[in-house]
Amino acid sequence: MQINNTVTRAFSVLVLGLAASLALGACADESSGGGDEVSFAVDVQPILMERCGGCHLKEANGAGKLSLGTNAELAYAALVDQTTMNTSCANLKRIDSTNHDPMQSSLFVKIVGTTCGKQMPAGMMPVLLTDVQIEVFRRWIAAGAPNN
Ligand code: HEC
Repeated sequence: MQINNTVTRAFSVLVLGLAASLALGACADESSGGGDEVSFAVDVQPILMERCGGCHLKEANGAGKLSLGTNAELAYAALVDQTTMNTSCANLKRIDSTNHDPMQSSLFVKIVGTTCGKQMPAGMMPVLLTDVQIEVFRRWIAAGAPNN
């Protein structure tokens, strides 16, 4: 009886210890990935819808042969690891998921300057993206352009 009790107690201490370290592990994961992760569907695609609309939202024959469609799945497929039709940056992908330097993705280059031709959004009286919107793209590409 005495022995049984000791074994039982030892066992529950072990189980408690395991549970505690699992819980700690989960917390550690959360704080390292965490709330500041950029999501393509939640953060990036709505900017494309709002600011690149009219010109690139068709599923075919969008401006400059960039056809994003109207949902995240189509937009991701049109952008990530796709060859650009832009002749001034023909060596770059639209978004290069293997290169975490945003300046190696032609879409990013086109929203920050004119090295890859016209700055985007284009238009008669273009209103450029805000610093906050550009930062969303920068962080998403730096994280490997995940389909999240
Ligand atoms: C008023 C119309 C218009 C708007 C708005 C616009 N674009 Fe464009 N876009 C064009 C035209 C025209 C071209 C082709 C000329 C060129 O490449 O500069 C183009 C080309 C591009 C290309 C190169 C295509 C390729 O094959 O890689 C990218 C990338 C691009 N746009 C991204 C964007 C993004 C991102 C936005 C929104 C932030 C945007 N554009 C908003 C008209 C527009």
